[in-house]
Amino acid sequence: LNHQVNDAKIPLQPHVLIFPLPFQGPVNCALKLAELLCLSGIHVTFLNTEHIHRPLLRHTQVVSRFNSYPNFRFETVPDGVEHEKPVSGDRFMEVMEAVDTVSRPLFREMMVSGSLSSRSDRPVTVMIPDACFSFAVDIALETSTPVVVFDTVSPCCLWTSYLNLPTLIQAGDVPFKGDDLDELIKSVPGTEHIMRRRDLASFCRTNDLSDPVIQLILKEARTAPQAQGFIINTFEDLDALILPHMKKLCPNIYPIGPLHSLHKARLMANTTLVSSDTTLSNSVWKEDRSCLSWLDKHPPKTVLYVSIGSLATMTVNQLLEIWHGVVNSEKPFLWVRRPGSITGEYDESQIPIELLERTKEIGCIVDWAPQEDVLAHPAVGGFLTHSGWNSTIESIVEGVPMICWPYFVDQQVNSRFVGEVWKLGIDMKDTCDRVIVEKAVRDVMGTRRDMFIQCADGWANLAKESIAEMGSSSMSLSRLIDDIKAMSS
Ligand code: UDX
Repeated sequence: LNHQVNDAKIPLQPHVLIFPLPFQGPVNCALKLAELLCLSGIHVTFLNTEHIHRPLLRHTQVVSRFNSYPNFRFETVPDGVEHEKPVSGDRFMEVMEAVDTVSRPLFREMMVSGSLSSRSDRPVTVMIPDACFSFAVDIALETSTPVVVFDTVSPCCLWTSYLNLPTLIQAGDVPFKGDDLDELIKSVPGTEHIMRRRDLASFCRTNDLSDPVIQLILKEARTAPQAQGFIINTFEDLDALILPHMKKLCPNIYPIGPLHSLHKARLMANTTLVSSDTTLSNSVWKEDRSCLSWLDKHPPKTVLYVSIGSLATMTVNQLLEIWHGVVNSEKPFLWVRRPGSITGEYDESQIPIELLERTKEIGCIVDWAPQEDVLAHPAVGGFLTHSGWNSTIESIVEGVPMICWPYFVDQQVNSRFVGEVWKLGIDMKDTCDRVIVEKAVRDVMGTRRDMFIQCADGWANLAKESIAEMGSSSMSLSRLIDDIKAMSS
């Protein structure tokens, strides 16, 4: 990897190429990782496909923060996806197919010809693609570029439903449809007494192995372990059940989570980079911060926070069941209703008047909230969530118990781990009934509150320890930085 100039060998400077999956969540996590690497003096080229880069460019505060790093640069590669807004999760395969058809050959050309390297005056020494981009791992191997993959889904899903998908198929556990969803899955090492069919990632609920998502994940399961390392967003204690097993397949794992907390702590330690009005969120929606003053009016741990993240949707019927359940629980609530998150015909005339009136008395509804600040607010005592991995780990680090209503992909696994492994709340998967919602809220924030809060405090402390100076995630990040430097020399 040495750079040959006039027969003299000049040692290469570490220069990482980060290539995230083109969706808001993975791009957000990858930007946090990029900033941590920049802070350690590593040069970073951040390669976005065009459709996700366009909305990010409108987020001027984020773009100008990154542009202030002399060792950071954005690059883009066309993907043929014509969209002004980020594409939602239901179009995942459409985007992946566009990336495969349009971006993959262009990316290969960039790497083989060295054009990405020459545009920055320094060769790319290490590649960090999303683990789902199997083609990027192949191109790294072809061009003899060291490669470390980054997967932003939950490690419990990565292990049980991605890396073990070939095992599940061989054992006859997948495909399934209409079979007994409560049957235990015994073929995945480490989770033999925990996972039922219904708790596997949502794409496992198919009776067709030629399903494009299944084929994509099978490819990742084959390719990702060939990388020199695997970066994941968790901490050692949280995933102690699965990490020893995962390390047998991928020996060099870097658990650097909770990534948002590690990132925040490192930036806060550098006062020249952040001021009181710096936003560390890379979200494309505008946050309504007025809900924080609404929270200020409530006693500690009394408010239920309700949000289904950036991709999940619900029908009008599901909205009404959850709404009735929440109101009937009598707990004050802050609810994020992302525009476009209710499917089908919907207007306020369909909502019973007493529900609207009670909501005025005890509720606050916003389009988009500053979620990390909301979860850190003392008034919040429970989180009714879709169990997205970022929401889950943000809740864990703030010690907030959860009521889980998973939507898709890893969320089915995360909600099971919240309920059965971490004992942090209740999994309502595959149900949507006002009586069940009311009971779950009353349990988590009432009758079983002390037990859940004790567990939540325990995990929150472990999460904070992991990002402290000698904590496991801090040490993993240092090891990653050292390894990138060693791979570059
Ligand atoms: C999800 C997953 O979690 C991911 O693991 C899966 O593979 C694809 O779908 P998403 O819906 O974005 O993605 O959920 P989540 O991972 O929980 O991320 C949502 C993010 O938006 C969080 O970081 C949260 O803090 C933020 N958010 C959410 C806000 O900032 N404000 C809000 O009002 C709601």
